[in-house]
Amino acid sequence: MISKKTFYVTTPIYYVNDIPHIGHAYTTIAADILARHNRLKGNEVFFLTGTDEHGQKVDKAAKEKGMSAKEHADIMVENFKSLWEKANVSNDAFIRTTDSEHIKTVQGLLQMLFDRGEIEKRSYAGWYCVPDERFWTAKDLIEGNCPDCGRPVEHIMEENYFFLMSKYQEQLIKYIETNPEYILPETRKNEVLGFLKNNTLGDLCISRPKQRLTWGITLPFDDNFVTYVWFDALVNYYSVTLYLTPNSGHQTPSSKWWPAEHHIIGKDILTTHAVYWSTMLIALNLPLPNNIFAHGWWTVDGKKMSKSIGNVIDPNEIADKYGVDAFRYFLFREVPFGLDGDFSEDALIRRINTDLANDLGNLLSRFLTMAEKYFEGKIDLNVFIDNEFAKHCIAMSENIYKEEYWARLQFNLILENIWSVIGEANNYTQRKEPWKLAKSNLDELKTVMFSIWNALRLTALSIYPFMPDTAEKIWKQIGLRSLTDETKENQTVFNWSWKPAYEIKISKGEQLFPRIDIKQMTEDRTQKTGKKLLEEEKQKMIPGVKELIAIDDFAKIELRVGRVISAENVEKSEKLLKLKIDIGIEERQIVAGIAKTYIPDDLIGKKIVVVTNLKPAKLMGIESHGMLLAATDEEGRLSVLTLDREVKQGARVK
Ligand code: MSP
Repeated sequence: MISKKTFYVTTPIYYVNDIPHIGHAYTTIAADILARHNRLKGNEVFFLTGTDEHGQKVDKAAKEKGMSAKEHADIMVENFKSLWEKANVSNDAFIRTTDSEHIKTVQGLLQMLFDRGEIEKRSYAGWYCVPDERFWTAKDLIEGNCPDCGRPVEHIMEENYFFLMSKYQEQLIKYIETNPEYILPETRKNEVLGFLKNNTLGDLCISRPKQRLTWGITLPFDDNFVTYVWFDALVNYYSVTLYLTPNSGHQTPSSKWWPAEHHIIGKDILTTHAVYWSTMLIALNLPLPNNIFAHGWWTVDGKKMSKSIGNVIDPNEIADKYGVDAFRYFLFREVPFGLDGDFSEDALIRRINTDLANDLGNLLSRFLTMAEKYFEGKIDLNVFIDNEFAKHCIAMSENIYKEEYWARLQFNLILENIWSVIGEANNYTQRKEPWKLAKSNLDELKTVMFSIWNALRLTALSIYPFMPDTAEKIWKQIGLRSLTDETKENQTVFNWSWKPAYEIKISKGEQLFPRIDIKQMTEDRTQKTGKKLLEEEKQKMIPGVKELIAIDDFAKIELRVGRVISAENVEKSEKLLKLKIDIGIEERQIVAGIAKTYIPDDLIGKKIVVVTNLKPAKLMGIESHGMLLAATDEEGRLSVLTLDREVKQGARVK
């Protein structure tokens, strides 16, 4: 008996501080394509996705919504789970880094490395990027900002634990050089090698003091610290093999499922995977994954997706509007996997109208109409085959299943070959003029029909990883039973010469891809923009946190102009400033959480806006009689509201 090959594929685990966008859908659907292809080919598959739930970013997002980090994560994780269901993502497991088994594994591995002297405590000063949760050295910064995302960084000095990554630099270079498929595409491999050869690798800070961050995994050897996000997150790929893989029980080591075949990631997290994760595994004496594939980024109408521009594409909306399969197809046909791409609804509509409606949809509907018209829906499989046409389809099929394409995730080439079968089948239909054969040569017409039927059957099989629903629909419409069951039973289904053991009667169904009127769609889109924005806002809302209020509710808040008389830091607090404010009628003491952005001198003499009828509160033991207004940007920096011309303190703000 031939033993089944195991195939383990992963996506990054997504931060729960945000709702999913097309970038997340892209990686996850890519992994789904591989998983489905491998299942169809009879391999034993484990496909993992999940969420990254610890860290400062997530903690901050929860606090902003007035929730505990875990409560917040429990709600946000559903956004990912429901999208994967909608997008037909067939993951076998979903890991959350708050799973107790994962936490135990992270702690076990940390202890192991600590005992072996691979982790050391050091005092450390560096520049920290909060959104990316990464430290940088001064020379890494670009114009004082994070070199990765361009946002401002904070200077931080503290004691921390370090994984001694630097000593593995040479070993890692050698590994990458002797395993040319380890990092793909080639350009990304060269980038990593260039980085490793031209820089001295530092050690990796893996901890955060609890006084700054509690939302993490406590270090097993020092409970004043939690582990820093990447050590927790990257371990997910391995920890899952100890508790979520089939029959995982308590296997050690989890040799059946580790190492993974592919880690699919975006180009922005290549270093963390290719360098941090690889060296962690070397230090742990665990095998490295077979491949790390870094894909490119999607822009939208030529611009980077960003919440502030408001051009973030919601995959739910695209899938609802154009269908899940059209969306999945577009993502992988439009741009070679690995390169950056630009998303636009117009480009998507063009693909739907040409490739899906014209080429594929028409081939099927013409075939079904002819089958009904000439043979009452029956297809005779015991006739001669058209050898020329068969030769072409068989050659294309070989391309579609080329090992190299699948190993290198060259999805667009695979799709091109599938479409060349479809194109050839359309040409063949045209060339054979079946409407004439119906009058002159029924035997030849039977051959033509059987040949097209076979081409459609192979097409259904080959598009299945990309468009699973469409594939099943074609399969059933051309009279077959169940694509997944029939391939499970018998791999010869992929051969041109395969025939079912039952009679074939077509069953015409709904049109696969109706054409879209691009003009009409553009008009609808313009009309809907306002509505859409509102919907998007609603989506981001967590129930009970934001709601619309009436003007009377707003009028209950008394806002006044205040002048800052004095300001000082609150002892033992990094965030709080104690302010004395003249609000016209009296002097007020206010404690405000703005010390990370402002030093006391920045504020003295400034006219600001104060909520003056707030119930008093105590912050770090100091009474606060009111609140000042400030805006927070994406990086968490504050901007205190000031007035753009001279107004006397005490004036009402409405
Ligand atoms: N939590 C980390 C990953 C830890 S993996 C051990 C993380 N999460 S994320 O939610 O910020 O991003 C996940 C993935 O989304 C990344 O692979 C990233 O490349 C991808 N994308 C984010 N924006 C994207 C586009 N605009 N286009 C394509 N993919 C993009 O990073």
